Amino acid sequence: MIAAPPSIAPDPIFHLIGLYKADTRADKADLGVGAYRSNEGKPWILPCVKAASERIQADPSYNHEYLAISGLDEYTKSASKVIFGQDSALLKSNRVSSFQTVSGTGANHLGAAFLSKFNSSKTIWVSDPTWGNHFKVFETANLQIKVYPYWDPATRGLNWEALKDTLQNQTSPGDIILLHACAHNPTGVDPTHQQWEELSEIISAKQLYPFFDAAYQGFASGDLDHDAFAIRYFAERHAEFLVCQSFAKNFGLYGERTGALHIVSKTSVVARAVDTQLSALQRAEISSPPAYGAKIVAAILADPELYQQWRNDLITMSARIKEMRTTLKSHLESLKTPGTWDHLVDQIGMFAYTGLTPGQCQRLVNEFSIYLSSNGRVSMAGFNDSNVKSIAKAIDTVVRE
Ligand code: LMR
Repeated sequence: MIAAPPSIAPDPIFHLIGLYKADTRADKADLGVGAYRSNEGKPWILPCVKAASERIQADPSYNHEYLAISGLDEYTKSASKVIFGQDSALLKSNRVSSFQTVSGTGANHLGAAFLSKFNSSKTIWVSDPTWGNHFKVFETANLQIKVYPYWDPATRGLNWEALKDTLQNQTSPGDIILLHACAHNPTGVDPTHQQWEELSEIISAKQLYPFFDAAYQGFASGDLDHDAFAIRYFAERHAEFLVCQSFAKNFGLYGERTGALHIVSKTSVVARAVDTQLSALQRAEISSPPAYGAKIVAAILADPELYQQWRNDLITMSARIKEMRTTLKSHLESLKTPGTWDHLVDQIGMFAYTGLTPGQCQRLVNEFSIYLSSNGRVSMAGFNDSNVKSIAKAIDTVVRE
């Protein structure tokens, strides 16, 4: 018998998508979910994806068979090279278990389920703030969640000293630490290279287990190698860690649920045992992962021409977002909107963390049909040449009153 379950609040991001779709006002703007939009405000099929998809569908040997439990082999192999580098010494050491997952969320889930079973500590430290779904995923895997300081509202940047202090003085050996590999969601604030180096030292000294979430590689700066700095730096220095890799944003494959989990073990012998445990967990949860997105990504990564097209597509997306950051800032400055707006261009990736209050966000939704998260996060991809000026004016109005 099921005791009547209490109703709970809907997921804030998906709820916002529903509210936006239901809004009939003509000039509505969607700054909620992190999904890329073209300058015309439309979803964008990357040219590399379109070409690969056409090629796959024209292949007479195409079929709809199950993939292996660990996914499409050529996909996981090439995905691991994207994140760790073509000539990664770590990959050559065979210490990595790579599994195809149901996008980044599935990778977070599988990684958390594995650590919940096998890591010495069941505590995971997440940044304050972090992607809201991290809490749900880690709770579901029975990890205990603690937060470390990250965002400093005063500087609208990284709360570096408080972050270090917490890691140094409050964590216990074996605790897991969630790190956003680049383009932190929701703040768009990343540690500098020097800060990553210091973080790596603290994490080693405190014997923490690094849990990387990498959802924006190449999407943030336009350069795949640049955005993988932290992971590759850790790969040379840490015996154990894991990476959750999503191809939702950087291939625009949102609905195909295309991701991977890479678990780095101390030795290749341990890694092969980890493979068997991941197989058992994956089989129980999803049996085997969805095929189509993985086939597209594998085709692109295997073909130099399509690969080059992908790099161009990444630049198209990241450059448009950067341009929108500058344009929004300059509109706000010419309106003399109270406050400083440099953080809009200092932050990186899909999101800007505006500093708008929940009340101001609510007014933007209600009065201006501008949909954004109540924590002030906006998806920069929702801005375009046609709406950026009017959104700036609306922000100006709510900030003044
Ligand atoms: C977001 O943060 O908007 C995206 O990562 C989409 C999601 O699944 O929440």
